[in-house]
Amino acid sequence: MFGVTSGDSSPQSLVINEAAQALRDGRLVAFPTETVYGLGADASNPSSVQKVFTTKGRPSNHPLIVHVAAPERLGHEQLDWVSVLAPWARDIPEDALKLMNAFWPGPLTLVFKKDKHVLNEITGGQDTVAIRSPAHPIAQELLRQFQGGVVAPSANRFGKVSPTSAADVRNEFEGDTDLLVIDGGDCEVGIESTIVDVSSGDRVALLRPGVITPKEMLAKTGVRVYRLGEAIDPNAHFESLPRVSGGLKAHYAPTTPLRLYAPGRVLDALTEFPDTKSRVAVAVWDSESSLGDDGHPSAQFEEVEVPSDSAAFASRLYRTLRDLDEQGWDLILFPEPPAGEEWDGVRDRLQRACFGSGPSSSSHDSN
Ligand code: TXA
Ligand code: MG
Repeated sequence: MFGVTSGDSSPQSLVINEAAQALRDGRLVAFPTETVYGLGADASNPSSVQKVFTTKGRPSNHPLIVHVAAPERLGHEQLDWVSVLAPWARDIPEDALKLMNAFWPGPLTLVFKKDKHVLNEITGGQDTVAIRSPAHPIAQELLRQFQGGVVAPSANRFGKVSPTSAADVRNEFEGDTDLLVIDGGDCEVGIESTIVDVSSGDRVALLRPGVITPKEMLAKTGVRVYRLGEAIDPNAHFESLPRVSGGLKAHYAPTTPLRLYAPGRVLDALTEFPDTKSRVAVAVWDSESSLGDDGHPSAQFEEVEVPSDSAAFASRLYRTLRDLDEQGWDLILFPEPPAGEEWDGVRDRLQRACFGSGPSSSSHDSN
């Protein structure tokens, strides 16, 4: 990936240097993580944090994730995750330690009880704070040089598809000359981090599915993470909005209407769109190569292959949605992801994208 080491004077390292200074100066910096690009601000500066909300157009009661450097990056051998978390979180449970040791730095966000010094602007006034240490070397180097916490939501306008390249970020915030964007190429994971709530000190709960699944967490750490819909409290978590604004129904939405189709049922997905079915982009599994004789009523169907491996699918999902959205189709059809936990993250993003899609999507409430 990106060979950034501390103390080097490569052009990339100089950009990171400038970006760390911009954060200190109260400016926003968009930076790559392995999941999606983040819109970063100094987590200790209330007016910078405020700027994140106004730039994104995001309601202020939607809490932000604080990004922290990994202890080894900070270069103190005696440092561990608990000391990195000290300014932010308290009552760190044993299960959280196991998860951090297994998955950090990486695409996993943990929600802790917050330290009293964490700004209300970050937590939306809640008593918990979400923390993540991203694996991307540019993100780590930025956090190391900055020597503080960086709040960063996905670097898209509220309700839009999250950016997975620097060009996506520039498109989202065109004309914002004060925003510094670090180009780290395409994001490998491609969908936002898994969010797990460890704040209750009791049950550990999945708040947002991602590429790290409860099954994997159980296998690697022995920690049981209760999935969405599992009976802890059927009304909790995803429904307890706006704690997780990603839990709102409409989210990650393209402006072209998007629908899912069941295997072999492309035509069913069209019934809603009698007038617009003439220009339809249909995503098909690469393992199936073509819809074949699925009864296209129109010559204007165009097939786009999508990977049948869940990680590869996630990695390409937002890129594909953005590209198709720009191509001016009347309708985009995606195959329903198969059953299985490894598909939960993309299924969640696709369902929300469907719900919020279409020309009026900007009026939907999402992040
Ligand atoms: O992969 C990611 O997580 C990306 C990269 C940039 O790190 N960030 C990201 O941030 O997706 P954002 O703001 O788009 O989504 C953060 C989610 C929101 O749904 C928010 O409600 C939830 O995290 N969240 C933040 N603080 C929380 C808290 N204290 N309790 C529960 N959920 C929280
Ligand atoms: Mg987001």
